[in-house]
Amino acid sequence: MSRSARYAVFGHPVAHSLSPRIHAAFGDQTGIAVDYAAIDAAPGAFADAPADFAGSGGDGANVTLPHKEAAFALANTRSDRAQRAGAVNTLVRRGGTWHGDNTDGAGLVRDLTDRHGLDRRGRRTLLIGAGGAARGVAGALLDAGVDGLTIVNRTPERADALADALGEPGRVHPRYLERVGESGEFDLIVNATSAGRGGAVPALPRALVGMRTAAVDLNYGEASVPFLAWARAHGVREAIDGLGMLVEQAAESFALWHGVRPETDPVFDALQARNAALVSAD
Ligand code: ATR
Repeated sequence: MSRSARYAVFGHPVAHSLSPRIHAAFGDQTGIAVDYAAIDAAPGAFADAPADFAGSGGDGANVTLPHKEAAFALANTRSDRAQRAGAVNTLVRRGGTWHGDNTDGAGLVRDLTDRHGLDRRGRRTLLIGAGGAARGVAGALLDAGVDGLTIVNRTPERADALADALGEPGRVHPRYLERVGESGEFDLIVNATSAGRGGAVPALPRALVGMRTAAVDLNYGEASVPFLAWARAHGVREAIDGLGMLVEQAAESFALWHGVRPETDPVFDALQARNAALVSAD
């Protein structure tokens, strides 16, 4: 007998998450009844939350800040890409246990290639940041064929640790943030720091930007404004926020749970129009 499966996103704070809206839109589009809620779990309360959720019919969940590492720890099994990221953003109920996956990196690469037409193969890429967000996308950028991945971070030891964990010393180059200007121009600059949430931008030199540089912020909305303003002021060819990645990672999660990949463009277009109105209203 089938029961009504439940889905959710766990985060803290999570009230403003767009994920319930995105999954509802995917459900409407595919004709799949989607029961997807946002559940706030304070850091101390997250450990039991997925088990409680499973007990009340939970079949899958997204996990966002600050719980991605904790979700990795509690998953019973993990995909290779979750293993590589050391973080889980998608939980799938399998045979009474939680399987952990990470769709963030695949979501970023799909947004860059399909939506923005940026072929990552053979491109010099700079990753700014070495926290959870950076770890979530670094492996997928390498798999997409970037020529070299230079990693800088305010705390250099974390850039070194991320580079070591990626295990590709020929292609991955940790550098000091203060000296990254010596590395020349990059084709793609990815801001994976949380600096923008406090209105700040990592201190970056103009020398990073060339004629064909694209800049991406993994944040969207207000938090992406400082870095993308820096990028535009320095003449990047394209400045991209994290909204497309958010929609694409959601589509990957939806496909894992429901076995159907939704069309992302209509959902992205609607959210982008809404987002632009919100940012310009501030
Ligand atoms: P997330 O999961 O969002 O990546 P995190 O793991 O706390 O969160 O990592 C935050 C990242 O943003 C780190 O790379 C952090 O640099 P440090 O490792 O030096 O802390 C970076 N970051 C945050 N605020 C920053 C700022 N004002 N300038 C530069 N980098 C900043």
